[in-house]
Amino acid sequence: GPFLPEDPQLRTDLEALRRAAAGCRGCPLYENATQTVFGEGSADAHVVLVGEQPGDQEDRQGAPFVGPAGRLLDRALDEAGIERGDVYVTNAVKHFKFKYQGKRRIHENPNTGEMRACRPWLISELQSLDPDVVVTLGATAGKALLGSTFRVTKQRGELLPMPDLELLGTPAAKVDAEEKKDSAAWLLATIHPSAVLRSDNRDEMYAGLVDDLRKVAGALT
Ligand code: URA
Repeated sequence: GPFLPEDPQLRTDLEALRRAAAGCRGCPLYENATQTVFGEGSADAHVVLVGEQPGDQEDRQGAPFVGPAGRLLDRALDEAGIERGDVYVTNAVKHFKFKYQGKRRIHENPNTGEMRACRPWLISELQSLDPDVVVTLGATAGKALLGSTFRVTKQRGELLPMPDLELLGTPAAKVDAEEKKDSAAWLLATIHPSAVLRSDNRDEMYAGLVDDLRKVAGALT
């Protein structure tokens, strides 16, 4: 994408990526959002968690998963035995998309064009971090890395081979479990923490999220 640093070395430098993303105009979402919310966490993280997009709090504070969904996620990670210091958190889309309902800012789903425009940032983050496990939270993050046919209900909770980041967005980017053998990294899809907060069945949804995250912890040891 035209907004990535041209120097290939800078593309694997997280801080250079963050600075470049701060000025991204790759889609119209920058117009109404407060700021780009780039990923955050250790450059040595073994686990990268990918959400959908920043929420209201994240947009104001400029950091991912600092609102209610983030607090629930922190609790679930702790319960699953994943240390916060071992994790980098980011989003598939890096600007908050919302509409006003009175004074309240209500989250809106990013469309495929916005997801496609933002994907080079996510791919560059993942190439730079080279984690052992990538965890997608919810449908948008799953689609960003596994394609538009991804369904959380069908594919959650399984360690899948990490797709080839060079091929993402091309027809060749099929995830084939048979081809895992020599690939070092895993991808695990699970539900979004906001889905737990919205559910009538919170306890069960939360337990399912923790179960999935335990598989991530297991893949690290
Ligand atoms: N929901 C997300 O998907 N990402 C955030 O950063 C916060 C809430």
